[in-house]
Amino acid sequence: MSNSRKILATSALPYANGSLHLGHLLEHIQTDIWVRFQRLSGHEAYYVCADDAHGTPIMLKAQQMGITPEEMVDQVQQEHMADFADFMIQFDNYHSTHSDENKELSQHIYNKLNEGGFIKSKVIEQLFDPEKEMFLPDRFVKGTCPKCKAVEQYGDSCDACGATYSPTELINPQSSVSGATPVLKESEHYFFQLPEFSDMLQTWLRSGALQEQMANKLQEWFTEGLQTWDISRDAPYFGFEIPGTENKFFYVWLDAPIGYMGSFKNLCDKSDINFDDFWALDSEAEVYHFIGKDIIYFHSLFWPAMLEGAGYRKPTAIHAHGFLTVNGTKMSKSKGTFIKARTYLDHLKPEYLRYYFAAKLTNRVDDLDLNLEDFSQRVNSDLVGKFVNIASRCAGFISKQFDGKLSSTVLDPALAQSFIDAGDSIANLYETREYGKAIREIMALADKANVFIADEAPWVLAKNEETVERAHQVCSLGINLFKILSVYLKPVLPELTAKVESFLNIELTWADHQVLLTDHSIEKFKPLMQRIEPKHIDAMVEASKEDLAKQQAELAPETELTKDPIRAEIEFDDFAKVDLRVALITKAEHVKGADKLLKLQLEIGGETRQVFAGIKSAYQPEDLEGKMTVMVANLKPRKMRFGMSEGMVLAAGPGGEDLWILNPEEGAQPGMRIK
Ligand code: 2FM
Ligand code: ZN
Repeated sequence: MSNSRKILATSALPYANGSLHLGHLLEHIQTDIWVRFQRLSGHEAYYVCADDAHGTPIMLKAQQMGITPEEMVDQVQQEHMADFADFMIQFDNYHSTHSDENKELSQHIYNKLNEGGFIKSKVIEQLFDPEKEMFLPDRFVKGTCPKCKAVEQYGDSCDACGATYSPTELINPQSSVSGATPVLKESEHYFFQLPEFSDMLQTWLRSGALQEQMANKLQEWFTEGLQTWDISRDAPYFGFEIPGTENKFFYVWLDAPIGYMGSFKNLCDKSDINFDDFWALDSEAEVYHFIGKDIIYFHSLFWPAMLEGAGYRKPTAIHAHGFLTVNGTKMSKSKGTFIKARTYLDHLKPEYLRYYFAAKLTNRVDDLDLNLEDFSQRVNSDLVGKFVNIASRCAGFISKQFDGKLSSTVLDPALAQSFIDAGDSIANLYETREYGKAIREIMALADKANVFIADEAPWVLAKNEETVERAHQVCSLGINLFKILSVYLKPVLPELTAKVESFLNIELTWADHQVLLTDHSIEKFKPLMQRIEPKHIDAMVEASKEDLAKQQAELAPETELTKDPIRAEIEFDDFAKVDLRVALITKAEHVKGADKLLKLQLEIGGETRQVFAGIKSAYQPEDLEGKMTVMVANLKPRKMRFGMSEGMVLAAGPGGEDLWILNPEEGAQPGMRIK
C-alpha cells in the first residue's frame, strides 16, 4: 500500500513484582485499540511491551519469597502475559527488561552518553541500613516529616503536608527493610547531565510530541531548572552492571525505557523487521509511547535526552492518560474496587471492559471513572440492546425464509451511504485517540439502523406474500448496516467481531466499511453477546475484598515489604521456635504522635512486657484493659521510635476498624503457653 506507515507503539512496562489490575488495563486497552485500528487500516504497525524487572523492591520481594529475582520475574511475567492475552491485548512481542537485548542496548547507550561527556560521577551521602548492609531507596525509609512533623512518612515526600525532601532530612528515620536506624554513608554515583539537553527538549516538547496539558506541566520543570539525574545504584541491586565500574548498577529507570527497544530488538531478531528502520536517527517510522501521566517526567525528559545523546531518533509522541478511578474514587482494597485483572476475568467478559473504556476515553490526560452501575447499563444498552440487536432482528428471516442469502439489490442506498460516509470521521477519531467520540458516532448509527428496522417492521412484512420481498430487502440492508458497524467496532471488540466474521462469511478490514454485500450467503445467527448481570459485578467486588483478606492474612510484621506479600514458606522448626503466650492487658494507652499504635502493658505470668501494637484503628485503650490476648513472647525486642517493643500481639482481620486481637478461651491464665 503506497501510503502505508511504519508504526511502533508501546505501553508502559508493568513492574514484575505484582499482579496486573484494571489501571494497567486502561492503558493497554487504549494502546491495543489504537494499534488494531492501524493494522486494520493496512499500516505496518507493531506493539511491543515487556515486564520491568529491575530494582530494589523486586530484589527484596524475591528474597522474602525465598527465590531468586530471576525466578520471581519469570513467574510474574507468565502471569502478566496470560492476563494480557485474556484481555485480547495483541502484542507483537512481550519481553523482559532483564534480557540480553536490553543489557546490550543499555550498556551501549550508557557508553555513548559517557563518550559524549554526558555522564559525570560525584560522591554523595545516602542513608544506609547497617543491618541489611544496603543503601536505602527513599521509599524504604520512614520517619517524621521535617516540615509538619507528621509521623510515618516516606523518605521522599510527606502525605500529610505534601512537602518533598531528602530522606536524610527525616526526623527519626527508620529502615522499612529491617527496622534499623539508618546511618549516613558515602558512595560514588553517576549522573546523567540532563540540563545539557534543555534547549533540545524545549523544542521537542512543543513539536506536537506532547499533549498540551503535559507540555504545560513540563514547562514548570524548565522554569525551575532541570537537574542532573542519578543513574547508578550500589550493590546489592537487581539490575545491569555499569560498564567500567565495580558493584555499580543502572538505576531501574535507566534501563526501563530502553526495554521498549530491547523488546523490539528481540522481535526483529526473530522476524524480518529491521531495527534501524525504527530507531536510527534518520528513521521515517513513527514511535509512540502510551503511558500514565505520573511517569511523564521519565518519558519526556530523560528518555528523549538519552536517545539524543546516544545518537538515536526521539519518539514521535508520548500519549499520556489519566488515572483510573472506580465508583468515583481511588481504587480501594477494602471497598473491593481495587480489582485485579484476573479477578475481573473470573467474573466478566473482557470485551465489556474494552468497550466501556473505549466509550469513555479521550485524548486528554483526565482521569477516567469506572462506575460499576453505569458500566453494566452502558454495555447492556449499547452492545446488546443496540448493536447486536440489529443482527438478531434481521438474521432469522434471512436464514429461514431466504435460504441464508442477502438480497441482490440495496433497498435504501442513501441510508447505506450515510453509514459509509461516517467512516472517515470515525477513523480520524480513532487516529486521534478520541475513542469516546468515535463510539458516540457509532451508536448514533446503530440507533438509526434500529429505527429503520422498527419503521419497516420486517416481522409484519414477512407474513404477507406481497410484502415478503420487501422484508428480504429490509433485513439484508439491516445486515449490511450491521456489517459496517462491525468494521467500526473491530478495534475495540476483536472477539465479537470475529464471531460476526464467521456469521457473515467474510474477513473485515477497515476498507470493507465501503462494501455492501449483495447475493451473499451468510451463516445461521448465533447469540453474540450476553448481558452483564449485576450479580457478576457483585461477585467480582466481593472476590476483590477476599483478595485483600488473603493478602492481609499472609502479612508478616510491619515492614514495607509486606504490603503486597506472597507467602514464603518456613520450616516446621522455625514455627516451633515461636513462643505464643496468653497475656493479660493490664494497661493500654495512646502514643503521642502515633497514628496507628497503642502502647500496651502485658502480663505473662509474673513478667510484664511493653508492646507497641498497630491496632489503634480498631480499639480504644479503655476497651482493652483487663482483656486477655495472645502474644509472641520471644520476639527479639525492637527499638521503635516511641520506645522498646518487647513482643507482638496477634490480631486478625482485613484492617481498619475490622481488626481483632486474638482472645484465648475462657480459663486461660496469663503466661500459659499456646500449643
Ligand atoms: O511506573 C511503572 O510501572 C514503570 N514500571 C513503567 C516503566 S515504563 C518504561 F519506561 F519502561
Ligand atoms: Zn509533612
